[in-house]
This record gives sequence, structure tokens and C-alpha cells, in this order.
Amino acid sequence: MVFQGQHILSIDQLDRDAVERIIQVADDMTPYATRVKCCNVLDGAILANLFFEPSTRTRISFGTAFNLLGGHVRETVGMTTSSLSKGESLYDTARVTANYADVIAVRHPEIGSVADFARGSNVPVINGGDGANEHPTQALLDLYTIHNELEALGKDKGTIKIAMIGDLKNGRTVHSLTRLLCLFPNIQFTFISPQALAMPDKVLEACDNAGLNYSISEDFHYGLKNQDVIYLTRVQEERFTTQEEANLYRGKYCLNQSLYQQYCAKDTIIMHPLPRDSRPEANELSEDMNDNPNLAIFRQTHYGVKVRMALFALVLGVEDKLSQFEK
Ligand code: CP
Repeated sequence: MVFQGQHILSIDQLDRDAVERIIQVADDMTPYATRVKCCNVLDGAILANLFFEPSTRTRISFGTAFNLLGGHVRETVGMTTSSLSKGESLYDTARVTANYADVIAVRHPEIGSVADFARGSNVPVINGGDGANEHPTQALLDLYTIHNELEALGKDKGTIKIAMIGDLKNGRTVHSLTRLLCLFPNIQFTFISPQALAMPDKVLEACDNAGLNYSISEDFHYGLKNQDVIYLTRVQEERFTTQEEANLYRGKYCLNQSLYQQYCAKDTIIMHPLPRDSRPEANELSEDMNDNPNLAIFRQTHYGVKVRMALFALVLGVEDKLSQFEK
């Protein structure tokens, strides 16, 4: 895949070679992401960061990644502060913003909206999450996390067992990550959710087409056992018609240190895309796990900066020039 000038909208665009290239370039970013060295390869370049739906990590890490490469960031946050609230179309917003920026990151609550937006842009558009559909950069950083965590434990060869637990229907991160992991033949999935929040058929079909084994259950304790990685998600209450409906499922699965010790295999890595819902009625990942060395959630957020730096470098065609622009 040639990255330069491309939109990054869906995991389906990526093949195994493309993913391995992203991992390689993310590794190259280590000295700049950790501030051991400075690089201004994107000096003069502008990122438009358009977030029409709430975000902490994705928005800030896109901006940080661009800044760490020497570029500048312009932002719109929320629907009401944008002219979308005056009836402007995504197409017009894109046509205009593309005149102001070299690359655009977009998050929007509607499925397919970022692809619609990209039709109006002649600069690369990166999907920062479109409703319950996809979150491709999160999937790439999750894959990068799994790669690094299991390699550190010497568990990166052979079958890798991954349980995804929670709201698998509405969680866009689990949709994108499952599709991405379909490029790797040694993955064995366990999908744990209430029946009403099961992984969509389209995602299961991708597993079938890739020849990957998976089991499906509502049994939380079963999902915790014998896994290399447990990937938890919160109930995506903003995707439900009513809060009452979301409340039926919040608090159903809660991992804490006591359950980890009772059910999980030694060295099982715990991941979560964050935010975790720490309110007592939900609490799918207890803060009493914060000192567990296998809790990878905060390392995930660091890896996210490196992966997003890699994507900016690749779509802007500067990935081989980093060392020339060290300060
Ligand atoms: N993981 C993630 O997308 O977090 P934010 O919603 O805070 O960006």
C-alpha cells in the first residue's frame, strides 16, 4: 500500500504489509515520542483536528503526535461550535478545511460520516471514530500494544488468545481491532457480552473469512480464564435510545484485582481503549487494578502517540526523512 496522500478511514484498507510498515515506523518514532530527540520534519505543516463528538485521548494524542513532529494544530471541538450546526454539509466543511490544512483528523457521531467528509477533501483524512462503526487508529495502537506487551513476555509466538468483553455491539474499537487481527492467523478470540450487545455479524463474518476460531458466551468468568489478553469495553451508553436501556447492562461485567487473581492466567494482559466508566454502577475495570503490572491501559495511551506519529509521517510522505530533521 502507498500511504502518501491516502485517507485512513477503515481497517479494511490495510493489508498485513501495510500494518507491519506502520509498526516499523511507530518504532522509529520512539526517540521523538519520548523526547530523547527532537524532530521538526513537519515544520510548517498544519493538522485540522475536528472532533464533533467527545474525546480526550484521541484528540489530544493526534495533536501531540503532530506537534512532536514539528507541525501545528488547529481544532474544532463539539458540534455547536462548528458551522455544521448551521446546516453546512460535511462535504462543504471538508472542502473548506482542506484549504487550511495538510491533513485532517475527524471524529463524528454518525456511522460513515468520516468517509462522507473525506469525499470533499483533497488532503488525507484520518478517521478518529465514526459513531459505532470504526476507530482504525485505536485498533492500530491496540495491535501495537499487544505486539509490544506479548513480545516483552516472550509470548508473541504461537496461538494468541484474546477475550473481548463488554458492549461488543456498540464498541467501535472492538470492531476495528477484531478486523485488524483477522490479518494474523494465530489469533483465537473469545467474545463475551450480553446477548443483546453481541459482536455484529459483519465482524464475525470477517473472522470466518479469515479462518479464525472464536467462541461466544455471556459468561464473564469463562472469558477471564486462559487468555493472553483481555480487552474490556464500557457500555457505550451514548449509543442507546434511553439511559434506562443502557443501565440494564452497566455493572454486568466488573473486573477487579480479586477476580483477576482468582480467574486469570499468570501474565494475562488487561487492555481497555478508555475511557473506563468508573462510576460505581458501571466500573467495568476497577481502579484497584491500577498497580497490577499487567494492566496495559496507560501504556496503550503512550503507544497511541507513536502510532499516530507514524500515520502522519506516512500519509505526508516524510517517514524516511526523520533523521534529517533532528534538531
Ligand atoms: N479511546 C478513545 O477513543 O478515547 P477518547 O474517546 O477519549 O478519544
